[in-house]
Amino acid sequence: MVRPPRQHSRGLDLLLGLPPAADATVTAQRANVVNNARFQDLRLERWSATRDALWALVDRHLGAGARVLIVGAGNGDDLPLQRLADRAGSVTLVDIDAEAAARARARVTGAAQARITFHEHDVTGGAAEVIVASIVAGADHPTDLDLPTGAIAGGDFDLVLGDMLYTQLLQPALVQLRLPGARQLEYMRAFDGRLTEALVQRLQRSAAPQGRVVHVHDVACWSGSHDQPMELEEALSAPEPSWARLKRHDQCDPQLALERLRVLTVDRAWWEWPFEPNKRFLARGTVAVAGLPVDRR
Ligand SMILES: C[S@@+](CC[C@H](N)C(=O)[O-])C[C@H]1O[C@@H](n2cnc3c(N)ncnc32)[C@H](O)[C@@H]1O
Repeated sequence: MVRPPRQHSRGLDLLLGLPPAADATVTAQRANVVNNARFQDLRLERWSATRDALWALVDRHLGAGARVLIVGAGNGDDLPLQRLADRAGSVTLVDIDAEAAARARARVTGAAQARITFHEHDVTGGAAEVIVASIVAGADHPTDLDLPTGAIAGGDFDLVLGDMLYTQLLQPALVQLRLPGARQLEYMRAFDGRLTEALVQRLQRSAAPQGRVVHVHDVACWSGSHDQPMELEEALSAPEPSWARLKRHDQCDPQLALERLRVLTVDRAWWEWPFEPNKRFLARGTVAVAGLPVDRR
């Protein structure tokens, strides 16, 4: 049941020893829009090698004239969008942030730009917003989330790319709400697994029968507040035996969701995502065959 938000002031909250009321203007969508608008020039330049690494993987699975779907396209800072659109027949960008997609598309030059279209869509079907609204209202965890699991943008794509949005469905809003770390973890543990698994099903179902689905995920973080048992360079030198030893948030890992769903994977690559000067990630691209075994029974 959703409890009404508390009506009393922040001063009274403090006197009563209650946590401050959540900022009622925060939504999952707005939190992502704020993040996407940050450090645009810096990111485009810093993430150049990230685009090359993703291209090296995608290049092996992208046929000329292919219909491509990119979900979590954002600003396209980490996407080799020009190269993708030069080879593809069409590229459909999906995101909840239309301004970011417009920035991404504007950077593509030549005939390729006309092949890119944008589809504004919340891949959680509003579920992330229900969770965030429950926090803002000071209510209990929602128990009746209705998570979509069907194809996105009509499906039938030759190549589907889910681009590092698995961790971003909920977490930006938790950060913007300034929830203490323990409460952020509580919500991440309660909902990230379900949000990720539903999204993985949607991406898998969006591909044509002979298509491929590339799931790109930031597996582990190195920053002032995230120490790891080894350096990123060491993990990158032997990622397969190393990644299981790293501190991770497995609930958001699409590869683990693919394993649970018994989907066959056919290719994999690892690279560094130099997010900010003091924050770097180990990223993994996992390529899966289209569809879900459960649909073929
Ligand atoms: C970390 S960014 C991925 C990087 C992005 N490809 C770029 O290069 O800028 C995650 C993206 O997922 C999008 N996103 C988050 N939640 C979403 C949702 N529920 N539906 C669709 N897109 C979402 C965000 O707006 C953001 O653009």
